[in-house]
Amino acid sequence: MSVAKTTVDKLLKGYDIRLRPDFGGPPVIVGMSINIASIDSISEVNMDYTITMYFQQSWRDKRLAYGELNLNLTLDNRVADQLWLPDTYFLNDKKSFLHGVTVKNRMIRLHPDGTVLYGLRITTTAACMMDLRRYPLDEQNCTLEIESYGYTTDDIVFFWQGGDSAVTGVDKLELPQFSIVDIRLVSREVRFTTGSYPRLSLSFRIKRNIGYFILQTYMPSILITILSWVSFWINYDASAARVALGVTTVLTMTTINTHLRETLPKIPYVKAIDVYLMGCFVFVFLALLEYAFVNYVFFGRGPAQQKKINERLNKANNERTRYEENKVDAYGNILLTTLEMNNEVMPSDVGSSVSDSRNSVMSFDSSGVQFRKPMAPRDGFSHHSLDRSAMRSRANCRLRRRSSKLKLKIPNLSDVSTIDKWSRVIFPITFGFFNLIYWLYYVN
Ligand SMILES: *[C@@H]1O[C@H](CO)[C@@H](O)[C@H](O)[C@H]1NC(C)=O
Ligand SMILES: *[C@@H]1O[C@H](CO)[C@@H](O)[C@H](O)[C@H]1NC(C)=O
Ligand SMILES: *[C@@H]1O[C@H](CO)[C@@H](O)[C@H](O)[C@H]1NC(C)=O
Repeated sequence: MSVAKTTVDKLLKGYDIRLRPDFGGPPVIVGMSINIASIDSISEVNMDYTITMYFQQSWRDKRLAYGELNLNLTLDNRVADQLWLPDTYFLNDKKSFLHGVTVKNRMIRLHPDGTVLYGLRITTTAACMMDLRRYPLDEQNCTLEIESYGYTTDDIVFFWQGGDSAVTGVDKLELPQFSIVDIRLVSREVRFTTGSYPRLSLSFRIKRNIGYFILQTYMPSILITILSWVSFWINYDASAARVALGVTTVLTMTTINTHLRETLPKIPYVKAIDVYLMGCFVFVFLALLEYAFVNYVFFGRGPAQQKKINERLNKANNERTRYEENKVDAYGNILLTTLEMNNEVMPSDVGSSVSDSRNSVMSFDSSGVQFRKPMAPRDGFSHHSLDRSAMRSRANCRLRRRSSKLKLKIPNLSDVSTIDKWSRVIFPITFGFFNLIYWLYYVN
């Protein structure tokens, strides 16, 4: 104990902290080694990562050699303030700190030949510019650059102690979103106007684990896209159901997109996930447009025609019920007069020509309820001149013909489903193809 005390006293007595070891002579050779304790976070938004490590430097200071004691002396960390230390700094760090609980996490160990081992426990947040073009199927290369702040290569030289084994603890790192693919150690010199400085760099390539994104983004998008195809199996006249389905899927895709955007920086280029989400969005949107198209082509072939079909149907029903129930009210009278007129124009062709009956319907339809009254007295015929029962039977006959014609038209509407039928095939095939190209392009 007393030997150790006298040794330390002797070492520190007259020690000049201002001068580096071998001042005026060859450069101090500083070996570095890192034991990575953890990589706490890798942030895309801030483009940095946080690493906690045991950072060790060792160099030989002949002034601290002692011969009388064959022991390595581990001293209190406060002794470090009385010794010369290399002015190492991390080039790309944004914020670093030395852990201070319960005392500063520093270590000073002296060896009999004057070798000093100086260890620190540091947490540093270092910048790591990421290229997110292939996000989330990307690999990033993050580095930690270590350099001497003041001493040039004339005074100090850095090297990785132990070569490739200078960095340890990588294999037992647990990163939730990444796996470390490769680690590389480089030592070089960099030139500045004030001289050339030694620099060590530790770079590690990290590969993002896709699992999280499969669950959070890809699967929901795929399912939403598939859900939008359900519309093709729903009857085309169920517009409420199909529009609701279409709009809901479009909105869901928008929500997924928005959620994703919150976790990413505002970068100008297109990311892999954007491509996928936009693809899904386009598919969902097209499914909605498909229904708009179906609706337009088969229900809205011009609003006039649609109205005609509806009116024809209504009138056929109205008239038939009215005649069958033998109720002649004011409205019925009007109908009778128009029918009568038609009969008088073509008295002989009771249902002989389809075109005639259609014409009559056209005029019948185009004249609204209000206009029917003035039409009646125009020709000046007496309504009561014809036998009503005969007329009724004729009209009934014609109406039946009309309604049967309408019934024939309804199967024609089943052509609507050809678009749906094709969509049922084309949409899944195109989506499959899109997926194939996407995954082949981005995974390799
Ligand atoms: C001192 O440290 C060195 C290097 O770590 C080691 O090789 C040596 O055995 C140690 N000496 C003693 C006495 O523990
Ligand atoms: C990371 O990038 C640097 C410079 O571009 C390169 O020297 C280094 O080898 C890369 N690291 C890995 C692990 O690929
Ligand atoms: C359907 O009706 C239109 C006219 O409305 C007609 O031109 C077409 O040939 C019809 N199609 C079938 C399959 O009957």
